[in-house]
Amino acid sequence: MTDRYAVVGNPVAHSKSPRIHALFARQTGQDMRYEAMLSPLDGFATTVRAFAAAGGRGVNVTVPFKEQAFRLATTLTPRAQAAGAVNTLSFDDGRIAGDNTDGAGLVADIVGNLGVDLRGKRVLVLGAGGAARGAILPLLECAPAELTVINRTADKAHALAGEFPGCRGGGFTDLSGAFHVAINATSAGLSDAALPLPPDVFAPGGLAYDMVYGRDTPFLRQARSAGARTADGLGMLVEQAAEAFFVWRGVRPETAPVLAALRQA
Ligand code: ATR
Repeated sequence: MTDRYAVVGNPVAHSKSPRIHALFARQTGQDMRYEAMLSPLDGFATTVRAFAAAGGRGVNVTVPFKEQAFRLATTLTPRAQAAGAVNTLSFDDGRIAGDNTDGAGLVADIVGNLGVDLRGKRVLVLGAGGAARGAILPLLECAPAELTVINRTADKAHALAGEFPGCRGGGFTDLSGAFHVAINATSAGLSDAALPLPPDVFAPGGLAYDMVYGRDTPFLRQARSAGARTADGLGMLVEQAAEAFFVWRGVRPETAPVLAALRQA
């Protein structure tokens, strides 16, 4: 019998996940189906439980349900616990296992696809919301020389950084020196808002990474004019999906052809 999976969100029609997982399944010969599933805003748990009861094997979770998925899970991986959010649920014998593959996807894109070794580097994360939180532990595991979290609301960055030994927090006025890798985990780009970044925040030839994909954000433009190399979040999207696919199927799909296909579309 074909195993069923889904991405649950609201809205969800725009999601690229069904396409990505269909390509992974074809490539690896896995007998599975993956659909987009719209959940009512007040009915996430009901939607997920019904899918599991009907034989579904797992779901990816997207906006705005990742924190609810965290609470619904009966077990959590350490990286889901650190993220405070879940993007991957697996159903097994009445248990609901929660994982978070977003941060691993980010690191896989930066290290694997873009070829940037994070060890010993000065790494900057902009933002202190859910997207930033999910990135902290996987980034720290890469042993950077420094991990700094900067947020418009400085208190949130202090609080977030305080949860992770080896991480520093602050506001934009606390920024000093150049970073080898600067990651924009704010949602500012979605409203075309620029961040108050000093031009020398980007080390020459360093990497500026925006988790948003498919648009040239003010952050990417700032970085480019400062001489940094830039990347959007499409690779992270594909890599977090590959990691979820591995969690479910125990098989690692090749991401490069899938990323190329999405770029072309
Ligand atoms: P997500 O789950 O995408 O991280 P979120 O939890 O709502 O979304 O967090 C949004 C992040 O983007 C926050 O860090 C927010 O900063 P504040 O905590 O100060 O609100 C940041 N953000 C959004 N718009 C921004 C802007 N125009 N300038 C700077 N930061 C912005």
